[in-house]
Amino acid sequence: MIQKCLFPAAGYGTRFLPATKSMPKEMMPVVNKPLIEYGVDEAMQAGLNEICIVTGRGKRALEDHFDINYELEHQIAGTGKEAYLNGIRDIMNECTFSYTRQTEMKGLGHAILTGRTLVGEQPFAVVLADDLCLNPEGDGVLAQMVALYKQFRCSIVAVEEVPQDQVHKYGVIAGEMIRDDIYRVNTMVEKPSPDEAPSNLAIIGRYILTPDIFDILEDTEPGKNGELQITDALMKQAQNGCVMAYRFKGQRFDCGSVEGFIEATNYCYNTIYAQ
Ligand code: G1P
Repeated sequence: MIQKCLFPAAGYGTRFLPATKSMPKEMMPVVNKPLIEYGVDEAMQAGLNEICIVTGRGKRALEDHFDINYELEHQIAGTGKEAYLNGIRDIMNECTFSYTRQTEMKGLGHAILTGRTLVGEQPFAVVLADDLCLNPEGDGVLAQMVALYKQFRCSIVAVEEVPQDQVHKYGVIAGEMIRDDIYRVNTMVEKPSPDEAPSNLAIIGRYILTPDIFDILEDTEPGKNGELQITDALMKQAQNGCVMAYRFKGQRFDCGSVEGFIEATNYCYNTIYAQ
C-alpha cells in the first residue's frame, strides 16, 4: 500500500571531511556496501520498491551506483567476483529510481518538500541513510513501521531512548503510551536543551508520512537554526492526534558521526560479513 521511499541525500557530510569533499556521504562504505544501499535494502524488504532520491551538486555517484556499469560487469562476467554484485542486481531488478535536485540546503523539511514532485499524493517513507538500522533477527525497521501504518493510517516516527546529554541532537517527542512500544505523540521539540526536552525519546531517521505533510510544510515557517523542520510540520499533524511514535526493534547506528560509523563497521563485520 505504501510504495515510495524518499531518501533526502543532498547534505554535505561535513563531519566526514575530507572523505566527503568529492564523494557523497551516502556512498561511505560500511565494510563493503555504501550506506545508501543499506537503506534501499531496508526499503525493498518493507515492500517499498519506488525509490525517490533528493540529490544535490556532487552527488552523481549515487545515480551511477544504482545503474549498470557495462565495462566492469563485462570484465568480471563468469568469474567468482560476480557474486559481489548479487545484492545490487536484486535491487535493480526490483526497484525503480527517480531523482530530483535540492539546490539550496534549508533543512530536512525543505528536502522532504523538494521530494514532493517524486512522491505525489500518497503516503510514503523517509530514510535518512546516515542512520543505519539493522535487525538481523527479524524485520527491518521500515517493515515494522509499514505494518503499523496499516493499523493506524497516520504518520509514524521511529524513536529510541537516548541519554539526556544527547537530546540536543534530535527531534524529541512525548505522548500517551498506547502499547509498550507505541505512543500517540502530543509534543515534539526539535533539538531541545536537556531542560526543554519533553522526554528522552529521540526521533531517528525513519518516518512514514501522510501526504498532507506537503501542504503543511508549505505553510510552516523556518524553525530551529533558521531551517524548515519536519518536526514542526509533524507537530501540526500531532495536534490532530495523527502522529504515532514507535520504539523499533533492532540496532541503529549514527553513521553521520565518526564514532557511530566505526561502531557500525565493527558490528557489520562481526555479525554479517565474517559469518
Ligand atoms: C534530523 C531531524 C531530527 C531527527 C534527526 C534524526 O536532524 O531534524 O528531528 O531527530 O534528523 O537523525 P539532523 O540529524 O538532520 O540534524
